[in-house]
Amino acid sequence: MSTENTKKQIPESKSAPALPAPLSDLKIKYTKIFINNEWHDSTSGKKFTVYNPATGDKICEVEEGDKEDVDKAVKAARKAFQLGSPWRTMDASERGRLLYKLADLIERDRLLLATMESIDGGKLFSTAYNMDLGGCLRTLRYCAGWADKVQGRTIPMDGNFFTFTRLEPIGVCGQIIPWNFPLVMFVWKIAPALCCGNTVVIKPAEETPLTAIYMGSLIKEAGFPPGVVNIVPGFGSTAGAAISHHMDIDKVSFTGSTQVGKLIKEAAGKSNLKRVTLELGGKSPNIIFADADLDSAVAFAHNGLFYHQGQCCIASSRIFVEEPIYEEFVRRSVEQAKKIVLGDPLSSCVNQGPQINKAQFHKILDLIESGKKEGAKLECGGGPWGDKGYFIQPTVFSNVTDGMRIAKEEIFGPVQQIMKFKTVDEVIERANNTHYGLAAAVFTKDLDKALTFATALQAGTVWVNCYSAVSAQCPFGGFKMSGNGRELGEYGIHEYTEVKTVTIKIPQKNS
Ligand code: TAP
Repeated sequence: MSTENTKKQIPESKSAPALPAPLSDLKIKYTKIFINNEWHDSTSGKKFTVYNPATGDKICEVEEGDKEDVDKAVKAARKAFQLGSPWRTMDASERGRLLYKLADLIERDRLLLATMESIDGGKLFSTAYNMDLGGCLRTLRYCAGWADKVQGRTIPMDGNFFTFTRLEPIGVCGQIIPWNFPLVMFVWKIAPALCCGNTVVIKPAEETPLTAIYMGSLIKEAGFPPGVVNIVPGFGSTAGAAISHHMDIDKVSFTGSTQVGKLIKEAAGKSNLKRVTLELGGKSPNIIFADADLDSAVAFAHNGLFYHQGQCCIASSRIFVEEPIYEEFVRRSVEQAKKIVLGDPLSSCVNQGPQINKAQFHKILDLIESGKKEGAKLECGGGPWGDKGYFIQPTVFSNVTDGMRIAKEEIFGPVQQIMKFKTVDEVIERANNTHYGLAAAVFTKDLDKALTFATALQAGTVWVNCYSAVSAQCPFGGFKMSGNGRELGEYGIHEYTEVKTVTIKIPQKNS
């Protein structure tokens, strides 16, 4: 996943309040499985612990869903999807109204949700409040507006027939989401599914289940019928695998690693060939020409990588800089990285929080060590920070070459790679020389060059003179091993429909 919009797009009245919700107010009320608009203990009796990655402290325990709980959730979702059910007979405009209502409730509880997101996932509070919550509201309202505009066509078929198409909901949708944008991903999944009339069984990441579970209470309050949305917190290898293998789930939508994305497709193939959409990782190239506005290019490259501790699927983690400006670009990038203040993500003075967990922390440090060993020049950072939590120093490598691990593997951490290039053809080939294809960018004032790159780069999104500009209206997704299908925009809505062709024999056609 990804960042949503730029600060400019946030209305003034919605800019971050000075302080997050007082922690004493943050009683974690909802920790159970949400099925049929009711709260359930896990069938196994098991719970798992949720930690604050900034301190390592325990936040609470959450009911651990497994196969039996997924089965219950699927039964509820299937019943809610039956012909004649309140959900199936509801006007499409009413589905839209419920989604608008849900957005209003999120707006009401914005402070609480942003604080919870920060404590649970180590996200800066200001980022959670402005960007994540702002993005959730815009996406929900965008999809709410679509609910009564998902239309079929009439088709002039040969012969004496009248033919039309219906865009029908697919059915029960399983949705599996990651920890880097817990609430944004929750909304990116449920909003298009519900606007088209599907029902949902969703599993949040085990690291960050709290805002997703809280959403259950808002979904009920908004008035969605029982069984339309079911939320099963749990682990990937158990609850997640139960979703991807389920014989009565019609579609699965997954966001996360390419490795698990492959397992999801395999599970679909081994079970009922459910529809699969995947939003996976990236190793996105960002190409800076000597004629670019250097201040702007440095700033976008910096934010495009260090945003949310580098834990973004679209992170601009391969920066190619044209030779004449290479040294200056590196100098300014290092200057920017050294200004980053690490610490408590709830504090307004801090601009980098912790990595999500120990495994990610060690994975990133291992990749940093590989960069040092393979001969990249460590310009700054290069190690852990502080004595608690999973903090990593903002790190910049120059003199990076394409064969190094840090130039090939998704790092998902605050580690910037800066490479040098000389010619257009060379950099196009190098930029595309990856299994990934999520996003790419080019910085130049030359329109011909910009359009050449917009065509040549193999990526689902190409930005010109900007980075990370993602919005509810624009389709988002990957080429190659960065995924299948699209989220957001009209294309994303259609991923939640089946096309049905209806042909009626008529006595005689007239043009
Ligand atoms: P994943 O393992 O891919 O986790 C994503 C989601 O899939 C989580 O809800 C996870 O459950 C679930 N899952 C795990 N194994 C599964 C299985 N066998 N069947 C069904 N669902 C399963 O990601 P991660 O381990 O958290 O992070 C590893 C790497 O993935 C990162 O370093 C990064 O490169 C990449 N990543 C990419 C993204 C995006 S937005 N593309 C997001 C996060 C991570 P759990 O709750 O058990 O984890």
